[in-house]
Amino acid sequence: MSNIVLVGAQWGDEGKGKIIDILTDRVDFVVRSQGGANAGHTVRIGEEEFVLHLIPSGILRVKTKCIIGNGVVIEPHTLFEEIENLVSRGIAIDDNLYISEAANIILPYHKVLDVQREKFKGEKKIGTTGRGISPAYRDKVGYSGIRTIDLLNPEVFRQKLHMNLMEKNLLLTRIYEVEPLDEDEIFDEYIEYGGRMKKYIRNTSKILNEAVADGKRVLFEGAQGTLLDVDFGTYPFVTASSTTAGGACTGTGVGPSHIDKVLGVMKAYTTRVGSGPFPTEFTPEVDFVDRKRDREYGATTGRERRCGWFDAVIVNHAVRVNGIDTIALTKLDVLDNCDKIKICVAYEYEGNKITDFPFDMSVLEKCTPVYEEMEGWKRETKNILKYKDLPKQAGNYIQRLSELIDTPIDIISVGSKRSQTIFAKEIIK
Ligand code: IMP
Repeated sequence: MSNIVLVGAQWGDEGKGKIIDILTDRVDFVVRSQGGANAGHTVRIGEEEFVLHLIPSGILRVKTKCIIGNGVVIEPHTLFEEIENLVSRGIAIDDNLYISEAANIILPYHKVLDVQREKFKGEKKIGTTGRGISPAYRDKVGYSGIRTIDLLNPEVFRQKLHMNLMEKNLLLTRIYEVEPLDEDEIFDEYIEYGGRMKKYIRNTSKILNEAVADGKRVLFEGAQGTLLDVDFGTYPFVTASSTTAGGACTGTGVGPSHIDKVLGVMKAYTTRVGSGPFPTEFTPEVDFVDRKRDREYGATTGRERRCGWFDAVIVNHAVRVNGIDTIALTKLDVLDNCDKIKICVAYEYEGNKITDFPFDMSVLEKCTPVYEEMEGWKRETKNILKYKDLPKQAGNYIQRLSELIDTPIDIISVGSKRSQTIFAKEIIK
């Protein structure tokens, strides 16, 4: 058996979509356990590009079954838009997609509240994707969430919606001073969604545990990244879910004893979107990343990503809190033209060197990176297929990153295509 949890080791956008796509060939199930349509996993197959927000990337493989687990928050409009788009491009979606009956639903008031709360915060805004993620998780832990299964029972749905909307409309009109939402309109729209969703809704924890008992292989597809985790990220500049490896269990109903490996995905440098501290962020004079060529725009919001040097402090933190066993290193080719490459090996804070990621954001904001500098390779790497064929300096860089995070780097990606991948070791046996 080989059940793998894949997590982002930085602030999301590590190139997980491509790595997941490569691994889906070797697994039977691909499962999303957290987040929602705030994610955007880009997969390139030949000349075709697919961006998946809610549906697991395994959908692009004929034999792979996909599950949206209980920990995900589902925006039905996006779900059906994505299904229709995939079907129109020749991807079959039928008995290869299951949705947990316990997954929470994103309703129109969640999106309005997300946008209004951000406006209310002004300069202190989080920079959310505006998809209603945090308000939906807030309702889930506040015992007023609406689950997929509720959409199949008009009486239950009506009662929950009515209660929720009474409260939300007060917030919308009295606090945020915007128009209230219409209960009947939402009811009709979402009952229709429920009817369309019915064929996918299942007890997905049971399906997965039976599959595991049967020796089937499961890939848990993490969304966002460790530094956006609601507990271990740069709080409050985080997303509302558990993006770390533990979330794969609570978000699917598969116990930790069934997980064999945790694979971390990290970029050869660092990026983030939205607000929040970022110690190694480039100043404009040294920022060599061409946002268009290097595809550093958010796959969901189209926002330009902030870019900086590789930060070993944050990745060490990610290795620790996820129990990462092995790493996939992505976008090495973006560094091809650098003369010198910097790696942040520690932070300096009030005259002291620290290597543990600080939980106190007022400390992190004052940290300055301690850099080590390495020679660049100044050669194109995008067509290299074997580790031994990489330029010596690129090998040195990979080796040094691996030493600093004390974890083997077993996959190296040098471009967005499936073929532009170097395997130092087989991950799934
Ligand atoms: P939310 O998840 O929309 O609430 O956004 C909270 C923070 O997480 C913001 O800084 C977003 O930019 C960031 N975020 C959410 N999803 C992603 C993602 O898939 N990749 C990168 N950043 C994300």
